Amino acid sequence: MNAIEIRNLSKSFRGMYAVDNLNMTVPVGAIYGFIGENGSGKSTTEKLICGHLVPDGGEIKLFGRDYTDAGVRVRVGALIENAGCFPGSSVYQNLMMQAINLNLENPDEEIRRVLKIVRMEDSAKIKFKSCSLGMKQRIGIAMALLGNPTLIVLDEPINGLDADGMRIMREVLVDITSNYGCTVVISSHVLGELEKIATHYGIVRGGKMIAEMTAEELETSCRTYVALQAKDMSRTKAILSTKYSRVEEDEAGYIRVYDKVIPEDIVNYLYSNDILISEIKTDKIGLEEYYINLMNGGNSCAPTRRSHFSSKNKEE
Ligand SMILES: Nc1ncnc2c1ncn2[C@@H]1O[C@H](COP(=O)(O)OP(=O)(O)OP(=O)(O)O)[C@@H](O)[C@H]1O
Ligand SMILES: [Mg+2]
Repeated sequence: MNAIEIRNLSKSFRGMYAVDNLNMTVPVGAIYGFIGENGSGKSTTEKLICGHLVPDGGEIKLFGRDYTDAGVRVRVGALIENAGCFPGSSVYQNLMMQAINLNLENPDEEIRRVLKIVRMEDSAKIKFKSCSLGMKQRIGIAMALLGNPTLIVLDEPINGLDADGMRIMREVLVDITSNYGCTVVISSHVLGELEKIATHYGIVRGGKMIAEMTAEELETSCRTYVALQAKDMSRTKAILSTKYSRVEEDEAGYIRVYDKVIPEDIVNYLYSNDILISEIKTDKIGLEEYYINLMNGGNSCAPTRRSHFSSKNKEE
């Protein structure tokens, strides 16, 4: 079962497509990192999922049902742009206003529940305007969690957070998925942080999904490489290229071999060609480098480009 399945979704503003035939698949239980440069259509896609905008065309299914289905809409919580809180009101009062809007049966109990999830059970009385940025972002997540949704859609909730704010946010998001059975879509430009928690990624460009992959696929298919330095770099590179298929020089002055190979084989091979290595190490491509490569049309880590996850996921 997928939490979200989008096919050929489009949305234009004044004749310009913000979302252009976009496909997206988010399995239940995922933390789906939604990535793309400014103006690529992330927020618009999220607004369409949440019913804040009406699409020009295409299909959005949430938990197997059309996204307009009232039974499924109540399962979706969102934090898009900002939480829309009143600065002079307390954290509790702000949540109460939202709980009343949502017509929740036991608002006090529900507010206590979500404050606990976002690690703010002791901050209920603080005025919103006195909260740190990290707290404000977590209040937004608490808002999204009111009513116990099974899918939450978060637009850039980790921008601008300090190290501690990031750490708490990571814990909260992992907790929401692992212990509260919620699926999370999170757009972000903070790729180094995103890759610590995301289980799936979707990369959007010009309103189209250009790659979707699981964190494992990213890890196994393209991330590990052997990096080395030798005296005559161009000859070393030429020799390596006769045996290995993915040999490149990086900006830091290392030759990288992306083939699945143990460093000892490379050392032996170069030694047999009279080349002595001055340094050799194994390293990994981070999400950020992968993303930049993809945006630049590079193929140094042969991404798994596809528009949706495996059919196995879909049939579950
Ligand atoms: N309400 C609107 N009216 C007109 N154009 C819009 C509107 N909303 C979005 N757009 C345009 O649609 C495109 C996609 O915008 P969107 O906000 O979805 O991108 P984004 O990926 O979220 O960008 P960012 O990383 O800056 O948040 C942009 O060109 C934007 O200017
Ligand atoms: Mg945006």
